[in-house]
Amino acid sequence: MNSQSNHHLTCPQGTFHLIRYPITGNPTLQAWDGGDLLLLDHLTTLNLAQSCRVLIINDSFGALTCALSCALSRTLTNTLDSTNLAYYNDSLVAQKALVQNLTQNNLDPSQVTFLTLDQFLSDPGDYDLVLGKIPKHLSFFQMILKVLRTKVHAGSQIIFAAMTRNISRGVYDACTEFFGAYQTSLAAKKARLVFLPPIPKQTANQSSDHSPNQSSYHLPTQIEDLGIKERWNDYTLVKLPNTFAHKGIDKGSRLLVDNLPDLQGRMRILDIGCGNGFLSLAAAHTYTEAEIVGIDESALAVRSAQITFGSNFPHRKGRFYQQDGFALELEGDFDLILCNPPFHEQRALNRKLALGLILEASKYLSPEGLILVVANTSLGYQGVFQNYFHRLSIVNQQRGFDVIRLSGFRI
Ligand SMILES: C[S@@+](CC[C@H](N)C(=O)[O-])C[C@H]1O[C@@H](n2cnc3c(N)ncnc32)[C@H](O)[C@@H]1O
Repeated sequence: MNSQSNHHLTCPQGTFHLIRYPITGNPTLQAWDGGDLLLLDHLTTLNLAQSCRVLIINDSFGALTCALSCALSRTLTNTLDSTNLAYYNDSLVAQKALVQNLTQNNLDPSQVTFLTLDQFLSDPGDYDLVLGKIPKHLSFFQMILKVLRTKVHAGSQIIFAAMTRNISRGVYDACTEFFGAYQTSLAAKKARLVFLPPIPKQTANQSSDHSPNQSSYHLPTQIEDLGIKERWNDYTLVKLPNTFAHKGIDKGSRLLVDNLPDLQGRMRILDIGCGNGFLSLAAAHTYTEAEIVGIDESALAVRSAQITFGSNFPHRKGRFYQQDGFALELEGDFDLILCNPPFHEQRALNRKLALGLILEASKYLSPEGLILVVANTSLGYQGVFQNYFHRLSIVNQQRGFDVIRLSGFRI
């Protein structure tokens, strides 16, 4: 059984002090949910000694990895090393939360192998136990399952967890598509487990008789083939799974690019939370001599933006980095900063995210520079930003969105 206060999770594997990151969030929100609790309870029914190679996918703030790290170090006393516990998360912010939570629980982050996107796609794996949280974006879950087929063997146990309200029909359809079948636990703690059947290991481009749709789990040789393409003017946006506005360009982002300021000449532009690179693409189109830098905390977003920019402007200067917008590491100043900020932390509304990102980016604003932000009018960001800038104006307000122009950062 589990018990917990807001920041202390007590579960069969131990008691852990867990916090969320970024810390601007609501302090009453916990760093775990019913899906984590159910999965950690279920682990007591498994023989971890037979699970020498464990992969944890999409762990929100590190609850699963902290508990597993502790349980494995007890079970594999003399043999535990980083080859036993691998972790894949597209989010840099989630990785930071994990390192923070491991460290404050006296667990060693170097005993966990953090898989990069490329390692997750190509690493042969051969995992005995795979534990995951079902992500928000179905396209990302589909990608994970497609890749997972190349990383498991006939004896592997594969278990995903989620809050029941977040398990759509599409999640079950994806399980059937990529693993042929699935089973579920009873709902408890408002959550449910989804068990996938063990299947013989697949090489990256090999099919098996176990899948009803054999072509569906061939991993493409080009990463862009995992995504979808969308046309905008004469350009093509490449949208990998787990990126914002996967189903079509966001109305707010469109409004922002329709209101780009009239600037001329060579300049440097920063795209904060660049997603698939739509704002960078539009900026490169509008400002033909500009150099563009984009950052996002999602590796898939950064890769989308790189592919989008590189394929449309092969001879222009555009660089995209996986960075945390709350702790930027950039060079030089920028004349224009663009941002369509996130307002959800995982699945919880958090208005402070936008302010935190804008204030951090403002450290890189040139003295005469401008910031253009788009946001839902109902979020009331005008009031949030006004104490921090000498000049604030609403450039346009349409269909529930404000385009806000900021300049004169009060350092
Ligand atoms: C509303 S989307 C905008 C995406 C893109 N700019 C567009 O207009 O289509 C916000 C983006 O911010 C990113 N993001 C969220 N938190 C972040 C953080 N702490 N640091 C950097 N990027 C972050 C998300 O991954 C997401 O891609």
